[in-house]
Amino acid sequence: MNILLVGSGGREHAILKKLAASPKAAKIYVLPGNGGMDDLAECVPVGAKDIDGIVAFAKEHAIDFAVVAPDDPLVLGAVDALEKIGVRCFGPRANAAIIEGSKVFSKNLMKKYGIPTAEYAVFSDMDEALAYLDTAKIPTVVKADGLALGKGVILAFTRDEAKAAVRSMMADRIFGASGSRIVIEEFLEGPEVSVLSFTDGKTIVPMVSSMDHKRAKDGDEGLNTGGMGTIAPNPYYTDEVAARCMREIFLPTVEAMRSEGRPFKGCLYFGLMITKDGPKVIEYNCRFGDPETQVVLPLLRTDLLEIMEAVADERLADVDVRFSEDCACCVVLASDGYPQKYATGFPITVDADFAAELFIAGAKRADEQLLTAGGRVLGVTATAPTLREAVDKAYENAAKVHFENAYCRRDVGKRALAVL
Ligand code: AMP
Ligand code: GLY
Repeated sequence: MNILLVGSGGREHAILKKLAASPKAAKIYVLPGNGGMDDLAECVPVGAKDIDGIVAFAKEHAIDFAVVAPDDPLVLGAVDALEKIGVRCFGPRANAAIIEGSKVFSKNLMKKYGIPTAEYAVFSDMDEALAYLDTAKIPTVVKADGLALGKGVILAFTRDEAKAAVRSMMADRIFGASGSRIVIEEFLEGPEVSVLSFTDGKTIVPMVSSMDHKRAKDGDEGLNTGGMGTIAPNPYYTDEVAARCMREIFLPTVEAMRSEGRPFKGCLYFGLMITKDGPKVIEYNCRFGDPETQVVLPLLRTDLLEIMEAVADERLADVDVRFSEDCACCVVLASDGYPQKYATGFPITVDADFAAELFIAGAKRADEQLLTAGGRVLGVTATAPTLREAVDKAYENAAKVHFENAYCRRDVGKRALAVL
């Protein structure tokens, strides 16, 4: 089977490794991919948001199956466009990807179907939003409606901060057009859990739970990033919490999307907060998380391509999806300065005794040498029977990967280990 994978980060490298290991996979193309993927696939310089380019490529190269990984092409309708020319796809159509593409849509969906989430109000008029904040409970959370590169959320701890956040989104448009409508919502407290799931619009199969480390610095200090490391499984996601999530959140969400005429097929990501009143949805993503995928997929024991095909064909109920009982830890090595200013172009070297999984995110190849080319450069994932061993092994091996301005958090897994 000829496969097309859309995307270019560490998440896509993790998906690619699993697809390449499938006996059914023949040629794999990644659009655009990165310099760390050349040994498993042919990387083609077509941008992930270039829907016409992706469709034209699929037509010319007899593609049988496509996996669209990032949010932008999904929201822009890449799956709809590929299906139109007869390509089977893993990933939601645009009318379902809106669950991530519009926070107003997802909040209204949860309200209509009684899915637990933070209380909220929606505004498209700035003066009304500012007036509402005169009496709103503080702290509060201000969110831009549309995709904002994962940055459209501001936590406000004073009334003035909340008003400044509203003005920055609605008047100054710091997140662009996505600030034309905003959500102001209740501030929730509790540990966060990420749950990725496979769903074909009818059946939902949650994957192993995970914990992201979103802030740039140790101790959850510093700026928000795309994610500086992950562990799996998440110790806050007990069997009891899992059962409640299935009953109150996962199944109701899949059923709600189907009732709305927007069946969700692909990977549905639940960003959850375990509050004192039970699990609540912080956000939905219409795709695999990054770097959650880099700990979840290494634990998957079933053929990923087989699962993805079953999702596309709406027969997920027939597949026995299995995960290892092991734990996993991914430490992200970034360019020092990320998520703000950083330098790139430094050679990446790996010691001969490196003994973990390497997922390349921001790198390019020049004359056989891998050079850094992004903020998050790569992830080092280790698996082991206990979380302690997985964390230690991930750090031991991260020390065997070198580039000039490498930076990583030193405390990935620390919070999880403290509750075990
Ligand atoms: P998001 O961009 O939706 O992933 O949100 C970024 C982060 O903001 C989340 O991971 C949470 O830590 C935090 N956050 C979002 N919504 C809330 C909320 N209602 N209460 C508290 N924290 C929140
Ligand atoms: N790691 C969070 C995300 O992928 O949205």
